Amino acid sequence: IQHDLLAAIDAADGLDGLESVRVSALGKQGSVTALLKTLGGMSPDERLVQGPRIQGLREAVTTALAERKALLERAVLDARLARETIDMTLPADALPAGTIHPVSQVMDELAEIFADLGFAVATGPEIEDDWYNFSALNIPETHPARAMHDTFYFPEGGEGEKKMLLRTHTSPVQIRAMQAAGGDKPIRIIAPGRTYRSDSDATHTPMFHQIEGLVIDKGITLGHLKWTLETFLRAFFERDDVVLRLRPSYFPFTEPSAEIDVGYTLVNGKRVIGGSEGWMEVLGSGMVHRKVIAAGGYDPDLWQGFAFGCGIDRLAMLKYGMDDLRAFFDGDARWLKHYGFSA
Ligand code: PHE
Repeated sequence: IQHDLLAAIDAADGLDGLESVRVSALGKQGSVTALLKTLGGMSPDERLVQGPRIQGLREAVTTALAERKALLERAVLDARLARETIDMTLPADALPAGTIHPVSQVMDELAEIFADLGFAVATGPEIEDDWYNFSALNIPETHPARAMHDTFYFPEGGEGEKKMLLRTHTSPVQIRAMQAAGGDKPIRIIAPGRTYRSDSDATHTPMFHQIEGLVIDKGITLGHLKWTLETFLRAFFERDDVVLRLRPSYFPFTEPSAEIDVGYTLVNGKRVIGGSEGWMEVLGSGMVHRKVIAAGGYDPDLWQGFAFGCGIDRLAMLKYGMDDLRAFFDGDARWLKHYGFSA
């Protein structure tokens, strides 16, 4: 019986077959179990002889079963490993990747260009009070510029509470930067960010992006302003033939003020930045008004500065050739795939 059982165990070529052999030997009705049961009916002498033999049989069968089982399990594992090998030399599937939004791309480009010119990046809140957004920038309560800005106001608070609004431009960061610097240090910052006006058509969206620039130092002149903007625009449009035109203008917070036009050339009916066939307005600028320097905590008799502000979305459209600003903020994946940048 031992010989037969060991042969059956050896012959079992699967775990299920082996289990059947185990049941046939050691199960309740198994042949070895049956032999063990006979021990009870034996005389002590007989049991002394047969006991070790039957126990020996049981141990031999148990050991053989365990060894065979380990062998078969090992074979199953080997087969699975063989089946599941990975060819590490095959190219991996590409992960679905998003794109960098043109506005983010342009913000990064601007920060990089201005970093080379020694400008740090400053930020301010999008929810402002009317002092930072208007009064400190020399736009008093009754000033028509307040109406011109199509401001989103929050519902009025109680008596004496600040009037809160969504900032209509990044210029309040001028005041915040001056306050943070403490009135006695030169400043060179840009402040990119979201701005809001109640306006919407192909070139205006209620939320849009501006970048503010502010330099405060001693002996700053319009010449510094012009050189800085020319250097910036040439770097941004990646052309040495970018020509600037300073057009006298008016902003309450700068005096004198100038709007900056860049020249373009018509190539196959399309406007290409560079040359001077025509002019396109790109930013507002000027020498920081004495009252604004004072509102920022600087002495206007000692410190001068220039400031500029421009639409980031507009810059992106000009450089990368989109024509509808609203598409910037629709979140259409096809548009983002087409105009977005890879990381
Ligand atoms: N804040 C102005 C605007 O939104 C732009 C500007 C900034 C003009 C700084 C002059 C100086 O139109």
